[in-house]
Amino acid sequence: MTVTDERFAKMQPFGAGPGEGPISARDVPPGPRWPTLLQSIALVRFRHQFIPAMFKKYGDVFTVRVMPRGSALVLFTRPEHAKEIFAGDPETFHAGKGNAILGPIMGQHSLLLQDGREHKRARKLLMPAFNGAALRGYESLVTEIAEREVSAWTPDRPFRSLDRMNALTLEVILRVVFGVTDESRLAQLRPLVNRTVDISPAVLLGWGYPFLQRFGPWKATVANQRALDQVMYAEIAERRTASDLADRTDVLSRLLVVEDEGGLTDEELRDQLVTLLLAGHETTATALAWSLYELGRDAGQLATAQAAARDDDREYLEAVLKESMRLHPVIPMVVRHLMEPATIGGIDLPRGVNIGPSILISHAREENHRQPERFRPRRFLDGEVATNTWIPFGGGVRRCIGAGFSLMEGVAVLREVLLRWDVTLPPRGHDFPRVRNITSVPRHGARIVVRRAGSPA
Ligand code: HEM
Repeated sequence: MTVTDERFAKMQPFGAGPGEGPISARDVPPGPRWPTLLQSIALVRFRHQFIPAMFKKYGDVFTVRVMPRGSALVLFTRPEHAKEIFAGDPETFHAGKGNAILGPIMGQHSLLLQDGREHKRARKLLMPAFNGAALRGYESLVTEIAEREVSAWTPDRPFRSLDRMNALTLEVILRVVFGVTDESRLAQLRPLVNRTVDISPAVLLGWGYPFLQRFGPWKATVANQRALDQVMYAEIAERRTASDLADRTDVLSRLLVVEDEGGLTDEELRDQLVTLLLAGHETTATALAWSLYELGRDAGQLATAQAAARDDDREYLEAVLKESMRLHPVIPMVVRHLMEPATIGGIDLPRGVNIGPSILISHAREENHRQPERFRPRRFLDGEVATNTWIPFGGGVRRCIGAGFSLMEGVAVLREVLLRWDVTLPPRGHDFPRVRNITSVPRHGARIVVRRAGSPA
């Protein structure tokens, strides 16, 4: 059995811990009584309709049931509840188990999947690659890649901004993770990473049934993972022999010089690097595509953002990104698995339940954001956005490790676009969210049309 096969064999979706039995409806807040399969499909495939409908029907807190064992997932929508969850003791509020569905792809050592002591260690090892000094070091690389991408755009021809942003952010994350390396290896990696991100909700739901791995899309996913692993392990083996490790600033080289407890094994390295490649690529691309879409549909907003780009007003450009992430959350919720009974918002919850703040509802509640349906970046500069009402990156000890990176990258990319181009939407350019896998993306790819900045329409 290869390492890849073992990963798939060990799969525990929405991981129930040892000795955890089914949770009775009496022990959790109310929710729909539909069959689990139907609720899982609604949650994974139609969350943009399902979750708001459940919020409307049941109010602040409600429970949905997910496959394969009808596990309870209790969703909270108020900022004080999000605060309690984020501040929860990491030994009780396990995030790794809540993310178990990503196991076969990211691997058991992945920062996203670990809990307790292992999580703390991995976070400490990865953190230096994402602190302020490291981010400043990556900025010129991002600007260079963005400039190359954006200056190749063709005016007056509608295109899917999501596709271009995906290509750009993939290039950025490959360079940040691997640094300068063999171009042919990067060429091998691009399609393998893209296919991994492309994984469909049906494949994710099917993880609970290992026999499916012999068929169709499940089989193809395992084959793609094997190929990805091969390239990753080859790169790791080669890099271990490099003589300039101490001078290199890419994540792989930084992790290779770590001496903590004998350093990281090949498998640990592979898992963390794949996690960064996947978590750090499509998420930022989606936020950028929605930003371009929102600017493209409002000439006034575009003009303000272009003026900010010319003045190098990064704070305003960051507000544009933040407002796009508020209005169009890339990830719908944060999940924690309760290892012990806990009380949240005065509600007693049993061990074994999955809980989490709903990002979708937190960002759309009238009580949290005035005129929530309007795109208004200024709300982030006017001190209007209260703590725990804007939570696209989760929170607490598990807050997204790439949050600062993603905002730095987003601002640099927006600046390059806005300095060169006027952005509008093509006819029938309206877009809305579609569930891709874990993330939600613009259904039509956020199509835009560009013209040289300042040229007559
Ligand atoms: C718009 C862009 C992004 C969004 C919306 C996003 C969102 C999230 C969310 C919601 C979580 C879970 C937080 C929690 O459980 O409290 C998370 C965790 C994580 N993200 Fe991001 N992310 C983005 C960009 C990135 C980037 C650029 C990277 C890496 C380069 C990254 C790497 C990670 C990792 C490794 C974790 C796990 C952290 C842990 O468990 O300690 N993300 N992200």
